[in-house]
Amino acid sequence: MSAPDRSLQTVSVPSDWTPAGWRARPAAQQPHYPDEAALAEVVGELSRLPPLVTSWEILSLKKQLAEAQEGKRFLLQGGDCAESFADCESALVSNRLKVLLQMSLVLVHGLRLPVVRVGRFAGQYAKPRSADMEERDGVSLPSYRGDFINQPEFTAQARLPDPRRMVKGHARSAMTMNFVRALIDGGFADLHHPEYWDLGWVGHSPLSDEYRRMVAAVGDAVRFMETISGDTLHNLNRADFYTSHEALLLPYEEALTRQVPRQWGWFNLSTHFPWIGMRTAAIDGAHVEYFRGLRNPVAVKIGPSVTPDQLLRLVDVLNPSNEPGRLALIHRMGAAQVAQKLPPLLDAVRREGHRVLWICDPMHGNTESTSNGYKTRRFDNIRGELESAFDLHAAAGTRLGGVHLELTGENVTECTGGARELTDTDLARAYRSTVDPRLNYEQSLEIAMLIVRKQASLAAPVSA
Ligand code: PEP
Ligand code: CO
Repeated sequence: MSAPDRSLQTVSVPSDWTPAGWRARPAAQQPHYPDEAALAEVVGELSRLPPLVTSWEILSLKKQLAEAQEGKRFLLQGGDCAESFADCESALVSNRLKVLLQMSLVLVHGLRLPVVRVGRFAGQYAKPRSADMEERDGVSLPSYRGDFINQPEFTAQARLPDPRRMVKGHARSAMTMNFVRALIDGGFADLHHPEYWDLGWVGHSPLSDEYRRMVAAVGDAVRFMETISGDTLHNLNRADFYTSHEALLLPYEEALTRQVPRQWGWFNLSTHFPWIGMRTAAIDGAHVEYFRGLRNPVAVKIGPSVTPDQLLRLVDVLNPSNEPGRLALIHRMGAAQVAQKLPPLLDAVRREGHRVLWICDPMHGNTESTSNGYKTRRFDNIRGELESAFDLHAAAGTRLGGVHLELTGENVTECTGGARELTDTDLARAYRSTVDPRLNYEQSLEIAMLIVRKQASLAAPVSA
């Protein structure tokens, strides 16, 4: 049966939509600000401050995502689970950028495809929590919801939601963006010099030989092309880099939602590519209402409890015109459930002829607690979910166009396993995340290499 033809529908702003319209819907995962007037004042102030990104960058990303949907690009999205104001430091920002650049080099080289690079940064400051309150020794305080909202220390003062923190978060996001843009414009991402991306602390890594061989091969290819063309390949001097975050804290997102000259519609100018988290994706909820009116490309996290019917309704609301590059679905099922939960969703979306970009987040369905009290993820489960996702898409006739990861350029010990075979007892050594466990540098690079190997095995002709 052929898919329905949706190509005649046109793209426009829904006539019943405004940036504040979400306020009439139930908004999950929002803090309870004690002072409404202070909140309104902050929203007013934020709505006058300069935006962090521009509409033309957003539209160029949308085009790239449309190409990724067609298999002409691969998307790499990664960064911290939650940024913190204290971590807005030059080394942390540049190390994270280096890891993403190294991973993208591995992917470009191995997949023979351009990579769309999207950081989880410059605004990833608000977190959904399983409970509104946290209890310790008989004391109950509001949960820590990310630096945009309150502070992690367990005191009444630190946990009180303070709207001024949004202004501080906007400034930190702007500093992060500014530094990333300056590094990239200054040649940091220059393919002629991938050695700039080496991380100082990395000693002999089990993966470094393979990585260095790849760098040498890329260098040879660049020099070869320049020799035969007799010129410098200028577009290798810089790499596009886009930002994303979970657009959870709606007063902040509303304040950064703007109209711009010579463009129709509304753009969220706090980030290029906002996403809706799994806990706030209710079809009649405030987040879906807010997102449906944006011109940005948007993503939704899809967990194991979503049914095919629910997913199709979400896709209809978020991308009624079936616009290419508009909607990404980030599935995060967990290694144990992916084989059962994912195929019916892939079939339903394909059958209805919806254009979406499928992305696998192999992190959030694989979180567990160790007996010594650490929240961790096993590398084998992350690898398992990712590899299954490639197989399941191939079997369904859909395409896995990208990966969404929590990672850092620091030498942390938060996820177990990987090339250095970290164990539960290693976790105490360098566990720094205040929320979810991240892949460290080596584990991240290993994931990139694994994606390449997996794709190659799928592309290889099956012998009779
Ligand atoms: C996250 O990406 O940090 C997150 C909370 O994910 P999810 O909404 O998929 O649980
Ligand atoms: Co997380």
